[in-house]
Amino acid sequence: MSAVLEMRRHSLEDPDDFWGEAARGIDWITPWDRVLDDSKAPFYRWFSGAQLNTCYNALDRHVPNRGNQAALIYDSAVTHTRRTYTYRQLRAEVALFAGALTAHGVSKGDRVLIYMPMIPEAVIAMLACARIGAVHSVVFGGFAPQELATRIDDAGPKIVVSASCGIEGTRVIEYKPLLDQAIKLAEHKPEKCIIRQRESCECELIEGRDTSWQDAVAAAKPHDCVPVMATDPLYILYTSGTTGVPKGVVRDNGGHAVALRWTMQNVYGVKPGEVYWAASDVGWVVGHSYIVYGPLLNGNTTILYEGKPVGTPDAGAFWRVISDHGVNCLFTAPTAFRAIRKEDPTGAFLPKYDISTLRSLFLAGERSDPDTLKWAEKKLGVPVIDHWWQTETGWAICANCLGIEQLPVKHGSPTVAVPGWDVQVVDETCRELKPGTTGALVVKLPLPPGSLMTLWNDDERFVSSYLSEFPGFYKTADAGYIDEDGYVYVMARTDDIINVAGHRLSTGGMEEVVASHPDVAECAVIGVADDLKGEVPLGFLVLNAGVERPHHDIVSEVIQLVRNEIGAVAAFKMAIVVQRLPKTRSGKILRGTMKKIADRSPWKLPATIDDPAILEEITERLQAIGYA
Ligand code: COA
Ligand code: AMP
Repeated sequence: MSAVLEMRRHSLEDPDDFWGEAARGIDWITPWDRVLDDSKAPFYRWFSGAQLNTCYNALDRHVPNRGNQAALIYDSAVTHTRRTYTYRQLRAEVALFAGALTAHGVSKGDRVLIYMPMIPEAVIAMLACARIGAVHSVVFGGFAPQELATRIDDAGPKIVVSASCGIEGTRVIEYKPLLDQAIKLAEHKPEKCIIRQRESCECELIEGRDTSWQDAVAAAKPHDCVPVMATDPLYILYTSGTTGVPKGVVRDNGGHAVALRWTMQNVYGVKPGEVYWAASDVGWVVGHSYIVYGPLLNGNTTILYEGKPVGTPDAGAFWRVISDHGVNCLFTAPTAFRAIRKEDPTGAFLPKYDISTLRSLFLAGERSDPDTLKWAEKKLGVPVIDHWWQTETGWAICANCLGIEQLPVKHGSPTVAVPGWDVQVVDETCRELKPGTTGALVVKLPLPPGSLMTLWNDDERFVSSYLSEFPGFYKTADAGYIDEDGYVYVMARTDDIINVAGHRLSTGGMEEVVASHPDVAECAVIGVADDLKGEVPLGFLVLNAGVERPHHDIVSEVIQLVRNEIGAVAAFKMAIVVQRLPKTRSGKILRGTMKKIADRSPWKLPATIDDPAILEEITERLQAIGYA
């Protein structure tokens, strides 16, 4: 049996032994009563009864041996700034900001919302929360005020930590007006805001409510780590659900620390002291797990890169960062490599840099198309590993575990289930399907440590979203198959989620916004294939009877509406007006068929369609904009 299969067998047959052993990689204040606590199944808990502090494990415990090693390197291609924090310095900064948070009334269990660009203060704020047992909720900077307001209302933060602006390429995006607007829209009013003033654009502060980061820190005293239960929440991270209301994924402290440290060594094959770079954003799960917690728990140097793969200044940006900082392992989304390849198909920028330290590239966030993967393999000459995971799982469900053994690559597959994960393919009656047959990808319960505990304030939605449809299993909402060798193929989502440039978005959420336009009677939003971003949203609008305004105006307004309500990150730039939407006789919109037509995939006329002629109009309209 291969080493990885043997390890997986061990993890599933004796999770207490397997994860109990992995837990030796973490420093505990009080040991656990039980490794896996199934007393309240399906709300499984890991390391119940134990106490620890995640920030202590990420920083303090490394200081005696690695005090002078770089913990965090901030490399901003947009402000041309670099700053290195050793473990000792980062601990000092975090302890001070933890003191500032407590001075502003934050204590254990309180929520702190972090709305920040890719600057070190975002990482410092996250770790400072962990230090005092406060629960952080980081919101990605590309979301609009309405989305931010929804998250403020759900999480109920005592304070918000933000910055005066973010920088997108050459554009300065003022964050403060967006934050002020969000607080105005939200019913829950945070008591205080701490704002990092950036040189690129200082903002006005509201007296009595806002304090600058600089002032807050100047007045603060360092705060020590506070013991928390392993089962206490470390953070809430909102992710798109099937409606406009996002799901607040809750992560614990103990299981999370154990699992992430284990993955650094076993999945990524990275030893303490090495340099790890996840080119993502702290607003996404990849940023949480692999910019902040994973590398620091493992004693690595982590890179915080503020910039893009292209345009800051060119398609050599990633190679420059690898060479400047001696990166050993890079993790990013396939879309970043598609962007680089588009600009520099021959890899002309590569010989300008010495990237000999790079040992592996990991890709996730969307399906890695074999073409891009092969291009990266050829140009970089290192293993390129597609791995599959989700915000909910917190770490990889399937991967080629370089730290255990390197399995042969099958392009188009994220390889096999990682130890801890019992992945199966089932039909709608929850019967396991034969190898090679496509069905729903599910994971047998319990999920391993580090995966979601529940949804914030919504145990019921946790159960109904993930656990009800396939009893005894977690529904990933991805469809695919497993081949004879156990390789998993993840082919599509089974819900309305689309992945745009590695960003997870709900088309249902976009439909809610589009439908709110006064001239729109009905609408559908689908994800269509895109060479760069993987998928992009496309809207179909049916107008109210009697609307005679130019369609062009209405389309522009709808596009602006989505940008205002959801944010630029939705990349909603295309919509067409149609007479009717194709539906089944029971009134269900045939989104799947529309997508197949747009993507030029083979499609069959659904037997239940109420009026086949509509599809002709849809096809013509799509052809007119370069699809179908
Ligand atoms: N704050 C404010 N706005 C943001 C933002 C942020 N943090 N991040 C993105 N946006 C804006 C962009 O400026 C863009 O606005 P525009 O429509 O006015 O141009 C819009 O949101 C869409 O952004 P994006 O999808 O990132 O497209 P892009 O054209 O700017 O860049 C890529 C395309 C492929 C280069 C870019 O998406 C990328 O680097 N992706 C890497 C993938 C990644 O980090 N994934 C995270 C999970 S691993
Ligand atoms: P997110 O929660 O933003 O990480 O998005 C998770 C979703 O992205 C998954 O449910 C998949 O649909 C998709 N995804 C992530 N990684 C992969 C991968 N390696 N292959 C295919 N799909 C992926």
